[in-house]
Amino acid sequence: MKLYFLLLIVLVTVLSLVDAAPSKGSTKASLKKKQTCAKDCGDNYKPICAGDGSKNLSFGSECVLSNYNCENQKNLKLVSQGECPGGGGVRLS
Ligand SMILES: *[C@@H]1O[C@H](CO)[C@@H](O)[C@H](O)[C@H]1NC(C)=O
Repeated sequence: MKLYFLLLIVLVTVLSLVDAAPSKGSTKASLKKKQTCAKDCGDNYKPICAGDGSKNLSFGSECVLSNYNCENQKNLKLVSQGECPGGGGVRLS
């Protein structure tokens, strides 16, 4: 019984070390950051045009826009409903 308990403690310690080590790497950390941004926007398509004053971009929905702002540390604002004139493609995620 005592031995099992000891083994369990060793196992938990080893697992937590294995788990903690890679998260110190910068790539993993930034990956984690992006994941917290990514809301699932579903496939609701309601295109909008958003811009920051220097450029306009089309997004599949306002949800996609907020993911984009979060991931890229941008603060694009809704400019108009529908795609931006001039094409350039619509971001869907
Ligand atoms: C962005 O779109 C708005 C509204 O259509 C327009 O007034 C503005 O000139 C556009 N800006 C750029 C940089 O294309």
